[in-house]
Amino acid sequence: MKAIRYHEFGGVEVLKYEDVPEPEIADNEVLVLVKAVSLNHLDLRLRSGKSPRPVNLPHIGGVDVAGDVAEVGKNVTDLQPGTRVVVDPAIKSKTGVEVVGVNLYGGFAEYVKVPAENVVPIPDDLSYNDASALPICYVTAWYGLNERGKLKAGETVLIHAAGSGTGSAAIQVAKLSGAHVIATAGTNEKLVKAKELGADETINYNESDFADEVKKITNKKGVDLIFDQIGASVWENNLKSLATLGRLLLVGVVGGGTATLNFGPIIMRDITVLGVTVFNAPRSNLVEVINVASLGIIRPVIDKTFPFKEAAEAQKLLENRNQFGKVILNP
Ligand SMILES: NC(=O)c1ccc[n+]([C@@H]2O[C@H](COP(=O)([O-])OP(=O)(O)OC[C@H]3O[C@@H](n4cnc5c(N)ncnc54)[C@H](OP(=O)(O)O)[C@@H]3O)[C@@H](O)[C@H]2O)c1
Repeated sequence: MKAIRYHEFGGVEVLKYEDVPEPEIADNEVLVLVKAVSLNHLDLRLRSGKSPRPVNLPHIGGVDVAGDVAEVGKNVTDLQPGTRVVVDPAIKSKTGVEVVGVNLYGGFAEYVKVPAENVVPIPDDLSYNDASALPICYVTAWYGLNERGKLKAGETVLIHAAGSGTGSAAIQVAKLSGAHVIATAGTNEKLVKAKELGADETINYNESDFADEVKKITNKKGVDLIFDQIGASVWENNLKSLATLGRLLLVGVVGGGTATLNFGPIIMRDITVLGVTVFNAPRSNLVEVINVASLGIIRPVIDKTFPFKEAAEAQKLLENRNQFGKVILNP
């Protein structure tokens, strides 16, 4: 079969579209014929060798996969070939979590094998492209805002990087919870799209100090919750932007992963800092986002699709921060 594989860490030039052996399934596994696989910032970090998650070379990435069951193992009785599915990439066991596309070969290939319990059927009215956008970004938003952040109707939430896969998902999930959404991004074009998605207020963090803007918007109170995928470069301003009893969700580190901790504001304003890892989210979160997406209550935001052969171009789009929402590869 054809796959996008890399044999060394580096820039997009290490991505090779090449022939690889088709996976052979065990008795409890299924083979999925890949129809769509969405990109994540994680794919860039893994490929460049900068992720703390261990990757064995050569590697086939691709964490967010939708497709058809092509073959089932001997012990699999509840799935038939032809079933449309999305893959839950987190394979959980007593010894920990392995992730499809991270520790294991992923979906940048014609076929991927996974345990049968890691595929979730999708309704006919959910396209493969939309379904492939859900498992990482939409589940991160759902798990982060609802389960970790306990977002309540009427609260104000600050969502960074509105044009990112996670940010565009979080705006929609937060609006669904009845929150007042302030979204940030690096360009005014992205902010227009954030408003179209439902953001109530927007801030261009390259043009103004977002903590000052948050203070103005909230009449000095600050926000109740922050969904932050940027990390170190916004840490100080995040603390300044939180209300008393505010919660900060640490989701990602595109802007650096190490910061100096000033205890003062955290103690004096009873701030809670919470980590979020999508691979710890319960399966029910994926089922919930599939349901709301198939009902059209949330709308996966897809910026562009590329054929597998153009994987390098697709990854460059993310690397250059030019996308709004998700970028999808199709075989
Ligand atoms: N914890 C979890 O479970 C989890 C799940 C999903 C993602 N994440 C993490 O969340 C982060 C975002 O992931 P994603 O897939 O949503 O990203 P993405 O779609 O690639 O978007 C990243 C966006 O971040 C903004 N950004 C701000 N500062 C940046 C910087 N210094 N370098 C690069 N981009 C910067 C850029 O938008 P502007 O140009 O508008 O600033 C960029 O487009 C990543 O760190 C990822 O690993 C974590």
